[in-house]
Amino acid sequence: MEKVLIQNLKNFENQEVSISGWLTNKRSGKGLEFLIIRDGSGFTQCIVDETKVNEKVFQLAKELSQESSLKLKGKVVKDERQIGGYEIQVQSLEIIHISNSFPITNKPHGVEFLMDNRHLWLRSKRQWAIMRIRNRIIFAIHNFFQNEGFVQMDAPVFTGNAVEGTTTLFETTFYEEKAYLTQSGQLYGEAMAMAMGRIYTFGPTFRAEKSKTRRHLSEFWMIEPEMAFFNNDMNMDLIENFIKYILKDVKEHCTQEFEVIERDTTSFDKIVNERFPRLTYDYAVKILTGKEKVDGKTTIETLEGDYNEVMHEIEDKLKQVQEAENEMKQSIKAGKKNFLQNKVDTLKNEIKDLEDKKRVIPEWINSAKTFEYGSDLGGSDETVLTRMFDLPLMVYNWPHEVKAFYMKRDEKDPRLAKGVDVLAPEGYGEIVGGGERETNEDLLIEKINEHQLPMKAFEWYLDLRRYGSVPHAGFGLGLERMVAWVCKLKHIRETIPFPRMYGRLFP
Ligand code: 4AD
Ligand code: MG
Repeated sequence: MEKVLIQNLKNFENQEVSISGWLTNKRSGKGLEFLIIRDGSGFTQCIVDETKVNEKVFQLAKELSQESSLKLKGKVVKDERQIGGYEIQVQSLEIIHISNSFPITNKPHGVEFLMDNRHLWLRSKRQWAIMRIRNRIIFAIHNFFQNEGFVQMDAPVFTGNAVEGTTTLFETTFYEEKAYLTQSGQLYGEAMAMAMGRIYTFGPTFRAEKSKTRRHLSEFWMIEPEMAFFNNDMNMDLIENFIKYILKDVKEHCTQEFEVIERDTTSFDKIVNERFPRLTYDYAVKILTGKEKVDGKTTIETLEGDYNEVMHEIEDKLKQVQEAENEMKQSIKAGKKNFLQNKVDTLKNEIKDLEDKKRVIPEWINSAKTFEYGSDLGGSDETVLTRMFDLPLMVYNWPHEVKAFYMKRDEKDPRLAKGVDVLAPEGYGEIVGGGERETNEDLLIEKINEHQLPMKAFEWYLDLRRYGSVPHAGFGLGLERMVAWVCKLKHIRETIPFPRMYGRLFP
């Protein structure tokens, strides 16, 4: 008898197989036990029929606790209604370990509780699906760059210098010296690109940010390509193709996973087929502050429209709650009552989200109206801008003061630096930051001093401008930000197996 993975059951229709896994859920019927088994590769229903197995096996199935591990044998039969399209008619069952009472049940749990139990939470179906999507995105990223002839190279994690400003550095010691955990592999990426032409790094990066937001991690994974003989226009073309490639790939290969997390991916089709709007910072600010319209509307008008819509939706849902609660007061069957209670719970959750929206929209309007030209775009500004388009936006030509020391100044307008940020739609905001690099040694030295960075730590970097300096550009994609958007998650903490954030070092 063949030992198979659940994801391969389709190749064994009407055959007898053996699988090893864990019990994730269970339901009982008349003389039947329906075991939902997961083996890491997938989920499948296994039916234990009292009349078809010996008494001992049936008793085992009946008493099995959630997350007990087991081996079972049975026949694979097609059933379109089941997850994966197949189920197993059990013939025999062998227990590997009876689980203690598992803390994460099928009841709703608070997020902090789930985070404290992250090591166990990873087993839930939703987390399983997100991790598989993350895996596919990683695979697509490597495929994209390898197909384009890039060489993957690794930057060190211990560094002696800051890259992205000194305020978010994690300080540590390296033997007797002061050192930092890297914020970005870019500077090393530039050196490697001068050796190899086109490279990408893919490694952990660290930012000490003492704020709890839905988009910040203290440790995250970044993909940083760096290309010799590249300007920022070529950089933007590459970013656009790259993002399109990932979306197309993940949509094609993760249909089952998207179904599990109820992520509608139709919005990807337009993104894959249309050119991303490229806005100069100047123009983006005009749109943001309502001085320029998009499709005949200003941001303020659009947001006011959203606000009214949210108010209506809240009213409508409150009415539905009222109706369901009235119906529950009457004498109805337990099943119906359960159904109504679920409906009420869902509605109340939706109302809570809408109330949050109702609270933030006026804040967004205010921050858009009062935005000061020359400052960096904040999270809410990004949300407002992307609200006007259903495509990722590329904002380029930034005031040089808000960008890092290494950004290339625009020869035609020295107020500007040739940086680009990519803002994801659906409220996600910045997923990519990049740009062309300064090649002029004197300007670089000036910038290093302006940012009060220790010149000595950057001597090696300046060498790149002394020995065959060439125009070059690159960017960094935050993997977890990408996963959050692709999966449409409310918070970045679910995008990585063990998130490290302000206030969270365990498990
Ligand atoms: O915009 P950032 O700071 O750019 C750089 O680090 C450049 N050196 C990249 C380059 O040109 N090679 O960061 C790049 C991306 C952001 O757009 C965001 O997606 C992600 O990294 N990122 C974070 N993700 C999660 N948590 C954080 N605290 C992040 N900070 C940045
Ligand atoms: Mg950035």
